[in-house]
Amino acid sequence: MQFNFLISKCMSVNENGMTILNGSQLRNPQLDEVITTMGEASAKAQNLKQVITSPSRFYQTDQKLYIKSEGKQCLGILKIGKKNLFHRDLSGLVREIQPLCVLDFYVHESMQRRGIGKELFEEMLRCEIIYPEKLAYDRPSPKLLGFLKKHYHLSNYIPQNNNFVIFSQYFDNRQQNVNLQLASQNQQSQYSSTPSKIEQLGTLMSQMTISSTQSKNQQQQFSKSQAPWATDQKSQQNMYETTTGLMSAQIQKKR
Ligand code: ACO
Repeated sequence: MQFNFLISKCMSVNENGMTILNGSQLRNPQLDEVITTMGEASAKAQNLKQVITSPSRFYQTDQKLYIKSEGKQCLGILKIGKKNLFHRDLSGLVREIQPLCVLDFYVHESMQRRGIGKELFEEMLRCEIIYPEKLAYDRPSPKLLGFLKKHYHLSNYIPQNNNFVIFSQYFDNRQQNVNLQLASQNQQSQYSSTPSKIEQLGTLMSQMTISSTQSKNQQQQFSKSQAPWATDQKSQQNMYETTTGLMSAQIQKKR
C-alpha cells in the first residue's frame, strides 16, 4: 500500500523494516492514516462487515500492532492481544484460557506469497517469546489456515462457537517442551541479534535438563537404599530394576 510520505517519518522502523506499536503509543495523523488504510484493506480482503484494526480500536488497549514497511509502502500488519476464552474439548469439558491471540493479519495483495507474512509472524513470535501453537487465532481465513499448516504444521483443532481456533498442541505440554528445545536451538542459530533472550531460553532448558537428571538420580538412589527386603546382591539388583521400571512407568503415565 503506497503512501505519499516515508513510513519511517511517522513511526520508528527497525533494520528489518518492522515497527512494533502498542496502544499507549503517541498518535500522529500520518500514523493514523497508515493504521486506518491497512485496517480497512484487511477487512476488505477478509470480507468482513466490520473493520478490526483502526486507530480508535487500537489506542488505549493492551494490543500490539506489528507493521512491515519499505520506504513509502506499507506491506503488511499483524495485530495481537490477550483474550479470555472458553474452550470446549471433545468430551464437553470447558476450560477457561487467556491466550495471546492473532486478531488481524494482512499482507497487501501485491505482496502476498512472498514471505512477508512469515517475516511479520516470526518477528512477533520472537518479540513475544511464544510458539505458534500457543496462540489463539480469531476467525482465521483459509489463507491463514494454509499459512499455519505450511509453515508450522498446525492443522488439528476442535471448532468452537466463538470462532477462535486453538490448535490441539496448545494443550500438549510435552510438545511444548520439545518445541522449546528445538526452538531454542533454532533461535540460537537464527536470531543471533537477540542473544539475551536466547541465553535466557538456553539457561532455562539446561536447568530443566539438570533438574530432570537430578530427580532421576535421586529416584535411583532412593530405590537402591529403599530395598531392605533384598537379601543378596542379585535379588537386590532385580528389585532395584523392577522398582525403577515401575517408577519410570509412573512418571511416563503422569506426563
Ligand atoms: N491462497 C491460499 N493460501 C495462501 C494464499 C492464497 N492466496 N496466500 C498465502 N497463503 C498461504 C499459503 O500456505 C502460502 O504458501 P504457498 O504459496 O506455498 O501455497 C503461504 O501462506 C505463504 O506464506 P507467506 O508468503 O509468508 O504469507 P503471505 O505474505 O501471503 O501472508 C496472509 C499470509 C497474511 C494470510 C496473507 O495471505 C493475507 O493477507 N491474506 C488476506 C487476508 C487474510 O486472510 N488474513 C488472515 C485473516 S484471519 C486473522 O487475521 C486472525
